[in-house]
Amino acid sequence: MGIEVVLIKGDGVGPEVSKSVVDILDAAECGIEWIEVEAGLPAIERYGTPLPENVIDIVKDKGVALKGPVTTPVGKGFRSVNVTLRQSLDLYVNLRPVRSLPGVASRYKDVDLVIVRENTEGLYKGIEYEVVDGVVESIKVITRTASLRIAKFAFEYAVRKGRKKVTAAHKANIMKMVDGLFLQCFREVAEKYPDIEADEKIIDNLCMQLVLNPDKFDVLVMENFYGDVVSDLAAGLVGGLGVAPGANIGDKIGVFEAVHGSAPDIAGKGIANPIALLQSAILMLEYLSLDEKAELVYKALCYTLECKGIKTPDLGGTATTEEFTKAVIDSLEKV
Ligand code: NAI
Repeated sequence: MGIEVVLIKGDGVGPEVSKSVVDILDAAECGIEWIEVEAGLPAIERYGTPLPENVIDIVKDKGVALKGPVTTPVGKGFRSVNVTLRQSLDLYVNLRPVRSLPGVASRYKDVDLVIVRENTEGLYKGIEYEVVDGVVESIKVITRTASLRIAKFAFEYAVRKGRKKVTAAHKANIMKMVDGLFLQCFREVAEKYPDIEADEKIIDNLCMQLVLNPDKFDVLVMENFYGDVVSDLAAGLVGGLGVAPGANIGDKIGVFEAVHGSAPDIAGKGIANPIALLQSAILMLEYLSLDEKAELVYKALCYTLECKGIKTPDLGGTATTEEFTKAVIDSLEKV
C-alpha cells in the first residue's frame, strides 16, 4: 500500500491542474495512494454543501491532503471552504515560498523569500454583522496564543532552512491594539533567536519595498489578511499566480494548495498552469520525507521550462495544460 493522501480537486481550474499533478507524481513513482473527496461546487451539486463533514474527518484521519482551489461567492452565499477548512483543522501556518524559476521571465532573477501567514484569525475570523441599517462591522481578532505560535514557526523555519532574517509586517501605528499585540509577541519570540535578524516593517512600506528590492527579504511573517494580499504581490515577482505554491500546516496535518483561486476566466479551456499546484505537491513530498522524489519532480519541472522552453500561456508560452504535463513527465527521464 502506498502513502495515503487525500485529494480535493476543487472547482474551476482545480480539476485540470489536479489531474496534471497527480499524473506527474504517479509517473515519478512517488508511491501515493490518492483518496479523492469532493469540496466546492461539485460537492454542492452532489451533497448540497460545499464542505461535507466527511472531508474534514478524512483529512484529520489521513493527515495529508493535496487541494485544488475552491470558488467562494463574493459578498453573499456560503462561507469560504478554504477558511473553514483551515480554521476547523487548526492549520495555523500558511507557508508560501516565493522563488524565481529558471526559464520564467519576470522582473527579478533571484527572488527567494518565504511568506509565513497566520491562517486562523485576524480579519478572516469571519465575525461580521450589521449594527444598524447601513452600518456593518467586521471584527479583527488577534490572540497572544496564535501570534506567539506563528512567530515561533517563522523563526524555527528560518533556523531549519539556514535563513538569516525574519521580518514581521504590521500596522501597529494605526491598529495599536491588534497589530500591537502581534508585534509584541513577535518581539518576545525574536529574543529567543539571537542568531536570526529580527526586522519589522509597516505593511504598506513593506509592499513598496518588496516591489523595489525583493532580494532584501528572507522570511516574512504576518497576520492572515496581510499575508493573503502580500502573497499575490510576491507571486507577481516570480511569474504570477500560475507558479506560486502554498502549504497549510498544523501540528499534525498538512494541506497543500496553490496560492491562486479557481480562475473562472480560464476554467475549462485546458490552458491553466499546473506549476503552482505542482510546486505545492513538491512541498508535500518534502513534508512526507520523500526528499528525493521532491527533487526529481522539481528538476523535471525546471528542465521543462529552461531546456525545452515549454510553458502555458500565462507565462508567455503556447502549451496546453496537457502538453505541459506530458513534457514534465518526459523530463523525469532526463534529469
Ligand atoms: P484567481 O487566483 O482565481 O485568478 C486571478 C488571475 O490569475 C486570473 O486572471 C486567472 O486566470 C489567473 N490564474 C490563476 N491561477 C492560474 C493558473 N493556474 N494558470 C494560469 N492563470 C491563473 O483569483 P480570483 O479571480 O480573485 O478568484 C476566483 C475564485 O477563487 C474566487 O471565488 C476566490 O474566492 C477563489 N479563491 C480560492 C482560493 C483557494 O481555493 N485556495 C484562493 C484564492 C481565491
